[in-house]
Amino acid sequence: MAEITICYCFNVTKADIEERLAEGKSLDEIRADTGLGWGCGGCARIAEKLWGENGNPNDPSFYFNAMDTDSSSGAEHGTD
Ligand code: FES
Repeated sequence: MAEITICYCFNVTKADIEERLAEGKSLDEIRADTGLGWGCGGCARIAEKLWGENGNPNDPSFYFNAMDTDSSSGAEHGTD
């Protein structure tokens, strides 16, 4: 199975994150361990959408949002 990279700045994959979550780590601990979200910040919204407090790791819109390069507007997509 192909790996899905969540954080390109620190080369953190979806599997890396899910493995740490299975070990009982919080998303904040994973951020501290891997640097997730501490580079350009582009992955922070995706990580929150998948594994944050109200996240859904099976959210199908992740695959569309992962390709969204216009993160500067702050607008939410696909919520209507
Ligand atoms: S892609 Fe994760 S901090 Fe840049």
